Amino acid sequence: MEQGGRKTHVLFLLVLLATQLVNVTISKSLCDFPAVFNFGDSNSDTGGLSAAFGQAPPPNGETFFHGPAGRYSDGRLVIDFIAHGLGLPYLSAFLDALGSNFTHGANFATGGSTIRPQNTTRHQSGLSPISLNVQSYQFNDFHLRSQTIRKGNAKVGGVFKDLLPKPEAFSRGLYTFDIGQNDLTGGLLLNLTIEQVKASIPDILDQFKTAVKSVHGRGGRYFWIHNTGPIGCLPYVINPDKIGCTNPFNELAQFYNQKLKDLVDQLREELHGAVITYVDIYKARYTLISQASKYGFEHPLRACCGHGGKYNYNTQVGCGGKVRENGKEILVGKSCKDPSVMIIWDGIHYTEAANKWTFDYIVEGSFSDPSIPLRMACHRK
Ligand SMILES: *[C@@H]1O[C@H](CO)[C@@H](O)[C@H](O)[C@H]1NC(C)=O
Ligand SMILES: *[C@@H]1O[C@H](CO)[C@@H](O)[C@H](O)[C@H]1NC(C)=O
Ligand SMILES: *[C@@H]1O[C@H](CO)[C@@H](O)[C@H](O)[C@H]1NC(C)=O
Repeated sequence: MEQGGRKTHVLFLLVLLATQLVNVTISKSLCDFPAVFNFGDSNSDTGGLSAAFGQAPPPNGETFFHGPAGRYSDGRLVIDFIAHGLGLPYLSAFLDALGSNFTHGANFATGGSTIRPQNTTRHQSGLSPISLNVQSYQFNDFHLRSQTIRKGNAKVGGVFKDLLPKPEAFSRGLYTFDIGQNDLTGGLLLNLTIEQVKASIPDILDQFKTAVKSVHGRGGRYFWIHNTGPIGCLPYVINPDKIGCTNPFNELAQFYNQKLKDLVDQLREELHGAVITYVDIYKARYTLISQASKYGFEHPLRACCGHGGKYNYNTQVGCGGKVRENGKEILVGKSCKDPSVMIIWDGIHYTEAANKWTFDYIVEGSFSDPSIPLRMACHRK
């Protein structure tokens, strides 16, 4: 009797404790973001570069879209899973004039974008002229003119009204950023030393800060900022003479990420009413690559859609290009049998499977600062 009574008592206490824990977690309501506005590079480009400079060729898009869909992957990107996770449609690219619907946001990212404007052409360096400051101009233009059009006092109207966001989408929307990787790798591809690239980081982050402040000045309050991934594990950066991820480049990424995190702390103090979540993409990507087999993946450093060499990657011919072999022309990417068990798609970007894994890793907020889930990223911790 006595024993049983004590057990019941303990059980009761446990239930009480559990209920309180649940209360603490759900006392904050889901945010109900009406829109997502994204700024970035190819890691989150859903059709910008394709619209401006020619479509990403097949086999890009084969897994999910069953054809090219403006993304550098066999399927969806982390930003697609974010939009979907918030119950919103996939984001249309701002630059894509065809079939776009911006009711629930817009994507300003383009492949090869940097934070700082570059002094080289796209032809010389592969970097996009649509750097973050240009994406900011585009966002400002989008904000102003979409509202003029919706009010119906512009020359155009009609159907466009149903393709553009309501005013509250801008104040209540989530602003996502995934950019900076190309500022680091671009410098290295232009033969700067790691020390020289490091020395440029204050200027890079200063310009990043300008872009975030500009959105805040237009009424944006909720920010979701990805840090940069382990660039030293990508075949286009890897030292082909060594096995595994190249440490100096990963150290550079981590150095940059620490400075970015410091900037985010600073922005929280400076920007009135801003709620900023810093998301550790590096940790997610590195965990997957370094423990690939544990999570059901194979050949963690090898490109799926590529050709030749230790990592199935050739700087001269990319995914979807053509090579001659034994007198026959073959499509680069035909060799990629099962992208669902591969991490690296084309030597630079990730597969849909890796992107889904990364999204699942970050969505609950355990690797964010503050640790808050995606759907609650309008609340301060
Ligand atoms: C481009 O050139 C300008 C003027 O010399 C310089 O201030 C800027 O830092 C350069 N940008 C990059 C990305 O190197
Ligand atoms: C654009 O998308 C919204 C939301 O999904 C939808 O309600 C609307 O009908 C779409 N507009 C057009 C013109 O298809
Ligand atoms: C960088 O160095 C490599 C090897 O020395 C050279 O082939 C390449 O032309 C250089 N690139 C630039 C942009 O100077």
